[in-house]
Amino acid sequence: MSFHVPVMAQQVAAGLVGDPQGVYVDATAGGGGHSRAILERLGSQGRLIAVDRDPEAVAQVRGALVDGRVMVVCGRFAELEALLAQQGVAQIDGVLFDLGVSSHQIDQASRGFSYQQDGPLDMRMEPGSGLSAADLIRESSAEELASLLAQYGEERRARGIARAICAAPAMDTTADLRRVVASTRPRHLPKTLARVFQALRIAVNREPEQLERGLAAGIALLKRGGRLGVIAYHSLEDRLVKSTFAPLLKVCTCPPAIVVCVCGGRALFTKVGSRAQRASRAELGNNRRARSASLRLYQKGGD
Ligand SMILES: C[S@@+](CC[C@H](N)C(=O)[O-])C[C@H]1O[C@@H](n2cnc3c(N)ncnc32)[C@H](O)[C@@H]1O
Repeated sequence: MSFHVPVMAQQVAAGLVGDPQGVYVDATAGGGGHSRAILERLGSQGRLIAVDRDPEAVAQVRGALVDGRVMVVCGRFAELEALLAQQGVAQIDGVLFDLGVSSHQIDQASRGFSYQQDGPLDMRMEPGSGLSAADLIRESSAEELASLLAQYGEERRARGIARAICAAPAMDTTADLRRVVASTRPRHLPKTLARVFQALRIAVNREPEQLERGLAAGIALLKRGGRLGVIAYHSLEDRLVKSTFAPLLKVCTCPPAIVVCVCGGRALFTKVGSRAQRASRAELGNNRRARSASLRLYQKGGD
């Protein structure tokens, strides 16, 4: 089975790589598919730093991309500035964030990401570090759990499901959680399970905080003319990306009280393309994951 099929790999690499001799970061290396597509566009002096917080992904990429231009680093993209500083890199030409989990992570029952597999209720992208989903449930009140399901899963019946989860005698495995969610009799069980599992995964891995800090780091590290790309798979992520960039796309950033512009009227970033890019029909036919993917690219330096 393949580790992960990258989404919009050629679109991403074409959109990201301006200078073939530049320094690029794949902040979510996964199975290394996007890294490989970026690498194919780099010249002999180009460099690629592939980052992932999951040691299994890092081992996979180290094995798959044996190339003097590549450096593979285990870490969180929220700490991108420090991770790159350790490699002697202070500025970059492009960075990609392909959000969420890889097919490999989902397919492994022992990781506990999938409601379709039986395994421990874990969901940590960094196995053994921090709270698992089962720990999180144990430490949360029904109110806290409900707000997490509503916010991160956009689940309308969050309160009823959270109450049922907290009242359950055991919540150690994906099967325990599946059984309890089913007992609340949702109209469409698979969709509800998907939302509940997504919400817990986002909370366990503190994904919104990671994304906020990762984007801030990418924005700071980019050279003028450099590009940042994000592939989002649900509206929560996509909204966070748009709201982060909205103020940076404004042409005049002077406070409203200032009558005559003093900032020079230059946007700090411009959008590449007027709207988010989607996978082609051919790709949608071959890769289910691509259906919900939306790619946004931004260029530093404005117009
Ligand atoms: C959708 S997969 C990436 C797949 C990859 N683009 C490919 O072509 O194979 C997302 C990856 O990002 C990693 N990840 C998620 N959040 C992260 C974070 N905050 N820092 C570093 N890696 C992260 C996950 O461990 C996972 O391997």
